[in-house]
Amino acid sequence: MAEKFYITTPIYYPNDVPHIGHAYTTIAADVIARWNKLQGKEVFFLTGTDDHGKKILEAATKANKIPKQFTDDLIPEFKSAWKKLNVNYDRFIRTTDPDHEAVVQQILQKCFDNGDIYKGEYEGFYCTGCEAYFTEKDLEDGCCPIHKKPIELLKEETYMFRLSKYQNKLLELYEKTNFLAPRHRKQEIINRVKEGLRDLSISRNSFNWGIPLPFDKTHVTYVWFDALFNYYSATREKGKEDFWPANVHIVGKDIFWFHTVYWPAFLMSAGLELPKQVFAHGWWTLDKEKISKSRGKVISIDELIGIAGLDSARYFLFREASFGEDGDFSKEALIDRHNNELANKLGNLISRTSSLAEKYGIEKIACPNQDESNICEGTENNLLKKLNLKQIEEYFEEYRIDKALSEIFAFIDHCNEFVQHEKPWETHDTKVLYQLVESIRQIAKLLSPFIPDTAERIQEVFAKDQIKKAPILFTKIETSESISPKLNNTEIPNKTMENVTTIQFEDFAKLDLRVAEIENIEDIPGADKLYKLTLGVGELGERTICAGIKQFYNHDDLKGKKIIIIANLEPRKLKGITSQGMLLAASTKDKKTVSLISPDSDIAPGSTVG
Ligand code: MSP
Repeated sequence: MAEKFYITTPIYYPNDVPHIGHAYTTIAADVIARWNKLQGKEVFFLTGTDDHGKKILEAATKANKIPKQFTDDLIPEFKSAWKKLNVNYDRFIRTTDPDHEAVVQQILQKCFDNGDIYKGEYEGFYCTGCEAYFTEKDLEDGCCPIHKKPIELLKEETYMFRLSKYQNKLLELYEKTNFLAPRHRKQEIINRVKEGLRDLSISRNSFNWGIPLPFDKTHVTYVWFDALFNYYSATREKGKEDFWPANVHIVGKDIFWFHTVYWPAFLMSAGLELPKQVFAHGWWTLDKEKISKSRGKVISIDELIGIAGLDSARYFLFREASFGEDGDFSKEALIDRHNNELANKLGNLISRTSSLAEKYGIEKIACPNQDESNICEGTENNLLKKLNLKQIEEYFEEYRIDKALSEIFAFIDHCNEFVQHEKPWETHDTKVLYQLVESIRQIAKLLSPFIPDTAERIQEVFAKDQIKKAPILFTKIETSESISPKLNNTEIPNKTMENVTTIQFEDFAKLDLRVAEIENIEDIPGADKLYKLTLGVGELGERTICAGIKQFYNHDDLKGKKIIIIANLEPRKLKGITSQGMLLAASTKDKKTVSLISPDSDIAPGSTVG
């Protein structure tokens, strides 16, 4: 029987359409679920919505709908978002599902019978946004510390859960297991629990949008006692029982407390096994500001996918920020990674290898000790040996998925260096090509949890031994910065040696720098910074380059001048003109002075520079 693996996302409030924050948690769980499937495990991946509570009731009232109708209308938004993001969940649970309501009622009764739920009166500051009470010392200037909004003082008859009773058991759990992850979030929870736990209000009788208490129908429970049990109730379905306890609950840091204090205490009280781990990831900001719909600081799912395509978005989210830490989202950063990492590194490797393999074929290297993952030990496939599969597996086991992804890309870099070094286009060495093909098959498999569509396209090309040139995987996206990075107005910070990005000699050697002679200069209608230059580049023939030097040079200054260009840059369209390279110029920090780099003696156009 296959090992079981159970993973969950938080169940989201369906009071609005999902955004990038919800997408992040859900894609993370999808990546981990896919990885575990690849390991041959039987996976159960649960997501859903948290339909009850005051927050939803208020949103429904505002929309002039009854809460069930209001949430019913929003559920398709969540389901279609997960579909668009290629998220392969197994069940979408709602707290209004009858099987879930029945489980919650049974457990309420059990905890009431064992004395952990009792009737009382509660006075506290209630934030509807968090659906939680705060004490006076938690508040910041009388406001909720999360939502920063004024908070209401509530005094109500309520049923209380004896949370205080579980303080020591919880502390023991944290000390003895890996329940709290990542490690750096552990101490904060331990410290807060050590300060003491107050019993918790779990019911209200001033509204009825929740699950009625079986022992007092005038009260409903909602959100935390109701919602957290979704993880358990989904496993009461026939055939799913063995998935409990869950391997991991993936949550945002905002709800770590509820999952690591209330949740295990509820389960202890109900006599149920505890999940193995709760993993909290950080928060995304947008252009360094908190994501907020009212301030227009939000990225919708369609916008996210629209920037550079689905797989680039999925890739970016786990490459840009450490999983567990906060990250700042910007379209520019996403496009940058799409262009420089997916198109240049992965795309080039695939396109080069497939076209060379189509031309010259591949020749298998004998592999006496091939292990299950197809990795050859003690063979000539020196390239594949550089793949640190063990490390990647370890990262996945600890849910450090960003680290796993960087490790895969470190191997992609190795492969690109290997091509550059072995020059199969000159040697036509079919064994070299075989090593590359075999490595790419591994890369596609390892990347499949992150970028499933692209991985499948790569797998289709490299599946057979007769390889055909691959279609382009990632088309580069032009940005204003990529047009003329040297001549734009952004301030370049004063760099010290430590924060200068170093490159390998091989990277520099890729540049084809040439002497070129400016033969003709034309203005471009509607462009006040650009000239269209016609250049003579000796053996390379004539070139057109658009250059942002109009403010610094007249036509006469330029005519006949010898300059240095990068001749092998991918052509770019600027103002409708295809620019075939880039010229080199020095500029002061404020960009007010720009000076072309010229050879200091008469040297023929087309001469190489380096
Ligand atoms: N309904 C509760 C959870 C109950 S789970 C038993 C809830 N719902 S929520 O709709 O507010 O979703 C919260 C989750 O969305 C966060 O924990 C986090 O996973 C995700 N995010 C929402 N905004 C986010 C960011 N800006 N950045 C990253 N993730 C964030 O809380």
